[in-house]
Amino acid sequence: MNQVDYLRISLIDRCNFRCQYCTPEGMELDYILKRNLLTDEEILTLIKDVFIPVGFTRFRLTGGEPLLRPRVVELVQQIASLREMQDLSMTTNGFLLAPIAQELYNAGLRRINISLDSLEENTFNQIIGNRGRSKWQLVWDGIQAAYQVGFNPLKLNVVVIPGVNDHEVLDLAALTIDKQWHIRFIEFMPVGNSDLFGDKGWIASSELRQQIRARWGLIESQVRGSGPADVFQIPGAKGTLGFISQMSECFCDKCNRVRLSADGWLRPCLLNETGQIDLKTALRNGVSITKLQEQLQELLTVKSEINFKQRYSGTATGNYSRTMSQIGG
Ligand code: GTP
Ligand code: 5AD
Ligand code: SF4
Repeated sequence: MNQVDYLRISLIDRCNFRCQYCTPEGMELDYILKRNLLTDEEILTLIKDVFIPVGFTRFRLTGGEPLLRPRVVELVQQIASLREMQDLSMTTNGFLLAPIAQELYNAGLRRINISLDSLEENTFNQIIGNRGRSKWQLVWDGIQAAYQVGFNPLKLNVVVIPGVNDHEVLDLAALTIDKQWHIRFIEFMPVGNSDLFGDKGWIASSELRQQIRARWGLIESQVRGSGPADVFQIPGAKGTLGFISQMSECFCDKCNRVRLSADGWLRPCLLNETGQIDLKTALRNGVSITKLQEQLQELLTVKSEINFKQRYSGTATGNYSRTMSQIGG
């Protein structure tokens, strides 16, 4: 198995969007009570005393929407200034980003991934479930602010949904020609919402690459990420194109991460809760740090490989009861 050294930490399960593929309309969500959220101190203790000593080097802050967490800049600053911290990043929907992009950078955050599923206001509203004032412009402002402040790499995530935003693939890819952005096309994963788009809710990355190749040509990029994306480039472009293809080309055998939910459950896999550990309760009950390190090491040995297609067709074992927003993507 691959070395697992990357922790995704969900700071909060709430989100100010309701993306169709993540928290579909009508789906009731039970939010975590405030007293059950990991505190800032608990998050810091877990990173510093449990994960880093066991060999974790990369940490990504996620949500729901991580910028909804109170005093998030202070928390970022505290995490970034841990002496052993090598790589701290965040995935956000960008809506609240513009006014605090500089503060986050000053606090020590350097890598940021922002969701941008559409360049069209109406399509964007449809995807994020927005019926009120448009939010697209604020997200775009957040992206521009992050770019100007100097976040590098700056990655933009596009979940491609057939019949909804797939007609924009070339327009989105074209952004990389002049800008040093990393646009990543993601195959929709039926996590907690498998009926949403019927049988064919996703488009294979190979089809998208064909479209792009036919228009501009496409070459493999020298830039390698630390995650599941296969990275390509339009010849001569400043930025790159990543393809996250968990449905058509399962990458579970290369998986290098585990996930910590906002209420302190450490899960071995996006799709599999088997073996998960309640770190919050353990911490609050005074379980020793050595014992927590042992439990983490044990979880890494059982981190099972699970294939998305098997999961989808019901032939895989394991279970999940949380939506993507509750897991943190
Ligand atoms: P970096 O490579 O460090 O930039 O992170 P990332 O691309 O993994 O993070 P991001 O939060 O931007 O996630 C992009 C997409 O990859 C989202 O759709 C995630 O749900 C998906 N993803 C991230 N980790 C995994 C994983 O372990 N398994 C699967 N199947 N999908 C993942
Ligand atoms: N399938 C694929 N990607 C998803 N994301 C959220 N839900 C899904 C899904 N069902 C992506 C978002 C965000 C990241 C954290 O996860 O687009 O960029
Ligand atoms: Fe959309 Fe991310 Fe919020 Fe889910 S958590 S609704 S993907 S913005």
